[in-house]
Amino acid sequence: MENLSVDRSVGIDGIAFELPKYYVDMTDLARARKVDPAKYCNGLGQLEMSVASPCEDTVTLAAGAGRRVINSFGINPDSIGLVIVGTETSVDHSKPVSSFVHQMLGLSKECRVIEIKHACYGALAGVSIATDWILSGRNQSKCALVIASDIARYELHSAGEPTQGAGAVALIISENPRLLSFETQFQGFYAKQVMDFWRPLYRKEALVDGHFSINCYLDALAGAYSMYQRSFRKNNIIQADKEELISSQFSACLYHVPFVKMAWKGHKKLLEQDWNLVIEKDTNEMEQATLDFQSRVSPYLKLNARVGNIYTGSLFLSLCEFISNVDHSMIDKKISLFGYGSGCAAEFFSARIVSSDQGKIKKEEIMNKRQKISIDHYEEILFASQLGDANDSTVCDPLKWNLDGPFLYLGTKNHIRTYESFLE
Ligand code: CAA
Repeated sequence: MENLSVDRSVGIDGIAFELPKYYVDMTDLARARKVDPAKYCNGLGQLEMSVASPCEDTVTLAAGAGRRVINSFGINPDSIGLVIVGTETSVDHSKPVSSFVHQMLGLSKECRVIEIKHACYGALAGVSIATDWILSGRNQSKCALVIASDIARYELHSAGEPTQGAGAVALIISENPRLLSFETQFQGFYAKQVMDFWRPLYRKEALVDGHFSINCYLDALAGAYSMYQRSFRKNNIIQADKEELISSQFSACLYHVPFVKMAWKGHKKLLEQDWNLVIEKDTNEMEQATLDFQSRVSPYLKLNARVGNIYTGSLFLSLCEFISNVDHSMIDKKISLFGYGSGCAAEFFSARIVSSDQGKIKKEEIMNKRQKISIDHYEEILFASQLGDANDSTVCDPLKWNLDGPFLYLGTKNHIRTYESFLE
């Protein structure tokens, strides 16, 4: 493989997230489902789960996250030359979510605007495309706005129910980024046709072969990390027998997080590949792996544990937590990131920390605005949401759901989705 090193520094210049107003407590959900709460809270690692009501859809969440990143990081809207929304819960078979978002954010018309679908990989694919666009020089000094936005739904009472969630993460990808600089010379991809998780056109809830999907994720991680290891060896010209364990260079390892325990399974797999052994129960290796997970992965899973799966945004939600924790001592340290989309496609890559701008993410402010709801209220919301896309449906009434914006879906009238912005 040729050396892919480039002079240009490209990466993440800003990041922000947006959540729906409501959430349920996983202990309440477990009790309602007659399941031991320890299964959801410890077995899956989930403490709370965000719930989108009928007036909050993929568009309003995406626009909310986009608005936050533009405002918090002082981005000139006219400097955005590419908008990509990654989602697997789009609102139209043809029209992209990104067109609505482009209008709601008042962006320049001299802009490429697209939506990408590939299960939970869509937004990461968008980040890669935006990176290549900038590296090619065709961006003409403009930056890209990439937004991951999803509402994860499985059937009520199914095994997947406790792994739902909803939310969006927006990223500014630019030259000379202020937060993270990608190591574009190292890369790892993986793709294979598998039926682990999918959503037929006629359904709002996903179908999943749960335990098989976990194995597909782990196979994809092993494959993408193998390719990353090879590109690392080529670019660093290290002899295989003298090389350091490649993953030990990362100060933090971030993963796609469908549920928190999956990140542990993934990290264990990564260490097994680096250490070239299988980590068995009650061994020194297991103790070492557990400590390593506690220091390099688990501190960055707190938001995921309280929000649930937001599909294509879940890796970036963990990144929000990470950026919120960066201090001056971590500047120039490296982190790894792994994204997985069922079906499947995966990518393993790394980045260097540029600066500590954590105050801008406003994590606590966003989390504290949320309201806890009962399981009865959650079920009422889910049943109403089933009707929210029907023409002339009456369920999308912001007063009924006690919502005040900033962006709200008001229903589909004359077959056209209508939105309102309540910006101060
Ligand atoms: N106390 C503590 N722990 C308990 C427990 C108890 N009382 N009861 C069970 N557990 C543990 C189990 O031991 C298990 O842990 P391990 O995996 O470490 O063994 C964990 O809780 C889950 O238990 P089960 O495996 O029995 O749970 P389940 O079969 O009911 O469902 C699931 C789990 C398959 C993840 C299901 O929630 C699901 O299908 N979720 C959706 C699919 C998914 O998220 N897949 C992830 C990979 S695919 C992907 O990443 C793309 C994406 O975003 C969807």
